Amino acid sequence: MSYPYQITSLDQYKKVYQESIQNPEAFWSSIAEHFTWRKKWNNVLNWNFATPNVEWFAGAKLNITENCLDRHLEKNGDTPAIIWEPNNPNEKPRMLTYKKLYERVCQFAQVLKNNGVQKGDRVCIYMGMIPELAIAVLACARIGAIHSVVFGGFSAQSIADRLEDAKATFIITCDGAFRGAKDIPLKSVIDDALIGNTTVVRVIVYTRTRTPISMIKDRDVWWEDEMKHVEEHGIYSIEAEEMDAEDPLFILYTSGSTGKPKGVVHACAGYMVYTNYTFVNVFQYKPGQIHFCTADIGWITGHSYIVYGPLSAGATSLMFEGIPTYPDAGRFWDIVDKHKVNILYTAPTAIRSLMSFGLEPLQNKDLSSLEILGTVGEPINEEAWHWYDEHIGKKKCPIVDTWWQTETGGILISNLAGITPSKPSWATLPMPGVQMTLVDDKGNEVTTLEEGVYKGNLCISFPWPSILRTTYGDHERCRTNYFATYPNLYFTGDGALKDENGFFRITGRVDDVLNVSGHRIGTAEVENAINMHAGVVESAVVGYPHDIKGQGIYAFVIVSNTHGDDELTRKDILQTVTRVIGAIAKPDKIQFVSGLPKTRSGKIMRRILRKIAEGETENLGDTTTLLDPNIVDEIKNGKL
Ligand code: WT7
Repeated sequence: MSYPYQITSLDQYKKVYQESIQNPEAFWSSIAEHFTWRKKWNNVLNWNFATPNVEWFAGAKLNITENCLDRHLEKNGDTPAIIWEPNNPNEKPRMLTYKKLYERVCQFAQVLKNNGVQKGDRVCIYMGMIPELAIAVLACARIGAIHSVVFGGFSAQSIADRLEDAKATFIITCDGAFRGAKDIPLKSVIDDALIGNTTVVRVIVYTRTRTPISMIKDRDVWWEDEMKHVEEHGIYSIEAEEMDAEDPLFILYTSGSTGKPKGVVHACAGYMVYTNYTFVNVFQYKPGQIHFCTADIGWITGHSYIVYGPLSAGATSLMFEGIPTYPDAGRFWDIVDKHKVNILYTAPTAIRSLMSFGLEPLQNKDLSSLEILGTVGEPINEEAWHWYDEHIGKKKCPIVDTWWQTETGGILISNLAGITPSKPSWATLPMPGVQMTLVDDKGNEVTTLEEGVYKGNLCISFPWPSILRTTYGDHERCRTNYFATYPNLYFTGDGALKDENGFFRITGRVDDVLNVSGHRIGTAEVENAINMHAGVVESAVVGYPHDIKGQGIYAFVIVSNTHGDDELTRKDILQTVTRVIGAIAKPDKIQFVSGLPKTRSGKIMRRILRKIAEGETENLGDTTTLLDPNIVDEIKNGKL
């Protein structure tokens, strides 16, 4: 299989980009021709950003799994679809060919049907990084159920909120998950999440860790028993559900500037076309190559570039259960060597963390199979970029810096590996069909160069196929969040620079959203969690630069009754945040204060707190409008 729509030169990129902007409908329909459809579309694109309403390939009928599985069977049935590397290097890896994966997905799809799952039902998936997670996701897609994967690090409370919001009726989970030296008791977390839940009727449990669990009568069933039942009936293949182009494929929850995560909804056809197109072009995938994306399928990166993008392209996707530093900081390089990985796609935070271990973990690791490197999730600093280039890519592997979001479904800004130029710490050029624009705070396009660059808020003026369609159950929230800040533009929440060549550099979020180790966390969410602690009166959370995580979480907290022991109170607060959200949202620093800098109308001046957390002591800006300007000195003096 080769890809007729793979761009192979800079000139071609420029030409294709122009065409894609001049006639987006002709462009995207020419790409969509290369997929398997039950019925072609009536209309390539209907859109209106004001409502917002976007439809791609309206009227078309398809099933994404026929594109990810069935269509590869004849010629590539024996090609590895998924190579799985376990957490513990002494355990044997697993490999599923396209044929095997197809069979397993069909069988599990039958299991879902046997348990009453129907098209449109919401299925929550809470599993570790094992092939069964990909199988569960694809089985949902096969029967038209909407999957909502929840990252294994989220707490019972977070799962409960997501189950409630999506009115999910089914859960697929494991007894536990292996992550580094830890066993995560997934099923027991699910049991806690289900206390008080009224929508879930069935929990399907896969055995991974043999952690003791309780199976609840008439609610919980074992994955293995259910699969055996299907196998006894000789079922290896089931008909895929015929989906409308715009039917929802999945929901993925992500943080915003309010306390409540939003369920980003992606639609079948546009998401399929766009993730495939960007996978093939950004990574310049060549059939036979092994693609290793280190993300967890609990995040959008895993959905798009472990599962749907690679599989729809007939690629070999490597899935890793563990973490980069277990059993030691050479684990990634071990995997590259062992499986002869050709493409490595990871996060700057992982690079910085591995960098801090020096070059020792690289010794005796053969990285010569690597051809292309990628980064995602946060801005990459030049030091990390050069280390990646020199010590991992040995200066012969192009690095793609891919900018995108949960809401965008796929990569929107990136160089194309080895085809368009790279520039350290710059994501560079937009993908074909993607129309970026920088605006000032009033929404006017920035047209004046400042020290050689344009600087503004990053917006998009035209839809691309995998743009989010709504936020589940609350379309108005989708409108106000993304489409109302600036009329007729999708607002990303990021600030950016653009140079004279049209290259973009993302400078970071301009809203109250943090990016900690490439994970998106809302400051309001963390504040709500901290405020749940009985001894806390009020809190304010901001980000600060962190050497490894990119951003760290700094919490200013007013407490009433403490144990009289600050350290213990701190630990209690961390425990509370872990309970309410999950360990990923734990503040790195907690400073106890007697008050917060507020305006006379009671609004917390986060700008001041942010500056203090960043270590700025002099230029805190105008503090005269504060209710109590003295509080600033107190906070400054107590800085951690
Ligand atoms: C936010 C989206 C999309 C995959 C993982 C994160 C930041 C993402 C880059 C990059 C600079 C980046 C942005 C964006 N971001 N990629 N290459 N350079 N910043 O998905 O959780 O939806 O977060 O991550 O701030 O808005 P997410």
